[in-house]
Amino acid sequence: MNWYAFRNTSTATLCPDKSLISIGVAGARSFKLHPISCPPDTSGNVKAFRVEVSVSGWRGRMGHFALLGVGWHSWLFREEMRAILGEAEVLHPRIVSCKIEERTLGRLSGSALLDEVLVLGGSYELDGSSADYGRIFSEIGDWAINSMGTGSFAVRTRKIGELPISLSSRAFERSIGRHISKEGRIVDLESPENEIVVIIAGSNDIDSHPEPYAFTGTTIVWGIKEVDWEKEDFSGRSPTDRPYFKPVSLDPRQARLLISLSNKPGRDLNTIIDPFCGTGGIAIEGCLQDIEVLASDLDSRMVEGSISNLKWLGREGTVVKHDASDIFGLWGERKGCSFVFDPPYGRSSWRSDDSIEVFLSVLKEAKKIDSKGVVSTMLPAGPEALTTVSLGDAVVMGKPWSELVSDIESVGWIVHLLCPVRVHRSLVRVIAVFYPSD
Ligand SMILES: C[S@@+](CC[C@H](N)C(=O)[O-])C[C@H]1O[C@@H](n2cnc3c(N)ncnc32)[C@H](O)[C@@H]1O
Repeated sequence: MNWYAFRNTSTATLCPDKSLISIGVAGARSFKLHPISCPPDTSGNVKAFRVEVSVSGWRGRMGHFALLGVGWHSWLFREEMRAILGEAEVLHPRIVSCKIEERTLGRLSGSALLDEVLVLGGSYELDGSSADYGRIFSEIGDWAINSMGTGSFAVRTRKIGELPISLSSRAFERSIGRHISKEGRIVDLESPENEIVVIIAGSNDIDSHPEPYAFTGTTIVWGIKEVDWEKEDFSGRSPTDRPYFKPVSLDPRQARLLISLSNKPGRDLNTIIDPFCGTGGIAIEGCLQDIEVLASDLDSRMVEGSISNLKWLGREGTVVKHDASDIFGLWGERKGCSFVFDPPYGRSSWRSDDSIEVFLSVLKEAKKIDSKGVVSTMLPAGPEALTTVSLGDAVVMGKPWSELVSDIESVGWIVHLLCPVRVHRSLVRVIAVFYPSD
């Protein structure tokens, strides 16, 4: 027997077969069913069940959200948010804010580098020692009182970046909490129905990646945790957990990131094409987001391996043995395609000298398949690629970048994004997104 538990205070009615027949609250936007074990009903005559329904979601400033990145590569986090949402205002290198439509909130659940979503209350730039903390605490408290749903609450702070030691998280939590509880609201630190989050954000974290947005100072951003957004859980499907593993296997978060970056506001992403699928790292992340995946590889062991990795996750994609230089012959003309791949280089290449040739022929084929498509890829580069935001003349795929970029442009693509990622001391990968040049 399934019983259901709902959060918060409003009511709903279930049929005897446990399907939901009505929700007794006008503002309920969504609800979640959590099967729990309960003592069975003893009367045997129950026709309907009263249950509680969550009314979480669009409170306060409707539709304005603050999005916090996981802390790894804030530049790429911002690019990922822009690709998924369009324009976003940067409040801090790791925090962006934007207005989000309801359906887009769901799309954010596929994100690789998003850590937390808040219904935005506001933000405040601290002015060194002269900050009037009393005023800040009551402003945040007043906003929370007016914006949060019914039920209990807790105030939680998050500190990110370099901050003066004098800033105390506990002072924020206690003072704001006291201000709110004066209004008769109940504090529940264990499982609050409303979680007020205050992010105290200082200067950029020291990261081994270049960051075009230099930020110094301290910003405070506050909001209420959005419970309808769920962070992607990448655990249990790392390359070594899968039945078929090779050292070339792409990490799930990086594969997810490449897919996200291939979004273009205003364009529907229908199909992901990976012509170098290897063990299926990209195919897996595409299938898990219910996007059509067309994958191929020249090595039949890799094709079998990808198929078994997908089966292991209960998914099916189209995976075939084929030469990447002829993917137009394989897939024909299509719309809404993203070409997401990790091209062969060095040992994963069939002949060590043909990596660039194969790569450029894929770009040509991609243009024929979908002239409005997007390419999202990661290319091997030398350590010098990390020292500058613009790449300069770093060596990418064994060639100076200035030469490779001309090759890319000559086959009909322009570089939309170029961002180095450190793999280890001597290996850097450049994440690159190309748009059609016409
Ligand atoms: C870097 S690996 C891709 C790894 C993959 N992203 C994964 O998660 O396992 C490159 C792949 O390209 C394949 N490959 C090399 N040359 C190819 C070609 N001409 N056509 C198709 N596949 C090719 C190799 O067999 C190898 O599996």
